Amino acid sequence: MLKIFEENRGVELSGETLGKTLGVSRTAVWKTVGKLRSEGHEILSCTKGGYTLSEQSDIISAVGIQMYLRSSHEITVFDEIDSTNSRAKLMAIDGAADGSVVVAECQSGGRGRRGRSFFSPRGAGVYFSIIIRPNISYLQCQKVVPLSAVAVTQAIHDVCGLDTQIKWVNDVYFNGKKVVGIGTESIGQLGEDKPEALIVGIGINVTTDNFPEELHDKAGSLGVKVNRNRLIAECINCFDRLYPGVSESLFIPEYRQKCFVLGKKVNVLCEKPYEALALDVDENGALIVETEGKLVTLNTEEVSVRII
Ligand code: BTN
Repeated sequence: MLKIFEENRGVELSGETLGKTLGVSRTAVWKTVGKLRSEGHEILSCTKGGYTLSEQSDIISAVGIQMYLRSSHEITVFDEIDSTNSRAKLMAIDGAADGSVVVAECQSGGRGRRGRSFFSPRGAGVYFSIIIRPNISYLQCQKVVPLSAVAVTQAIHDVCGLDTQIKWVNDVYFNGKKVVGIGTESIGQLGEDKPEALIVGIGINVTTDNFPEELHDKAGSLGVKVNRNRLIAECINCFDRLYPGVSESLFIPEYRQKCFVLGKKVNVLCEKPYEALALDVDENGALIVETEGKLVTLNTEEVSVRII
């Protein structure tokens, strides 16, 4: 029934039509409408006894995402979960298919890089993980991080009409604040040169505002109310479009254009931090900096940079 409602947003559907289409009684229709409402879907009763899914209704659902997808993906949606990355990992171990996606309305233990947490409140952002069965080496897989950042900026542009930028390597910024976090994890056997599965976890702050104190200066949100199902689907569509070109690094020119670190003086944060000038991003997504007259290639996994 939700699929029919999603496909007819804003259109009044009579109980009779719904019942006939689904082959169920009007009482069953009424009960299902009640269940969908209890899940948060805004289903309005119309004067002539029909129902309509409000244009404003914004509950994440598999059918809501699937409506906007250009290719087929297994989508699993949780109302609340500790971390979509953790769940995706378990599902990958259990044999989940390439392209499966795990989504949550909120996360109680959203994980960021370097042991940090990712603030994931209900109704304000999107949190999802794509499971990939890569046919490429661990080395090539490193490029999936910057590739995902490009995919997300494209999706945000298409759905929200906003131009976001990338801070090397995988943070997406808007109005000077981080609005997207991307974290990849892999599972595999020792000795193999390619992982069994790669988990690409993406968290977007859409309308998030009540950030914890320590994030006030750094984290922001897109600040526009959009259909979050569509935003998730568009991220997947953009990812699907870019991923086949990962080995040839076809996404790199667009990454360079959107990477606002290039040409800036940065602090390279590693064991012994130092100052450098960010010059370029190479074909592997590594940042090339100049320090004391020498060129240094910074690997995505090892370091991060802060603009001075
Ligand atoms: C970072 O900025 O350090 C990476 C943040 C990644 C957050 C996303 S939200 C969906 C997925 N599930 C998680 O627990 N983490 C990723």
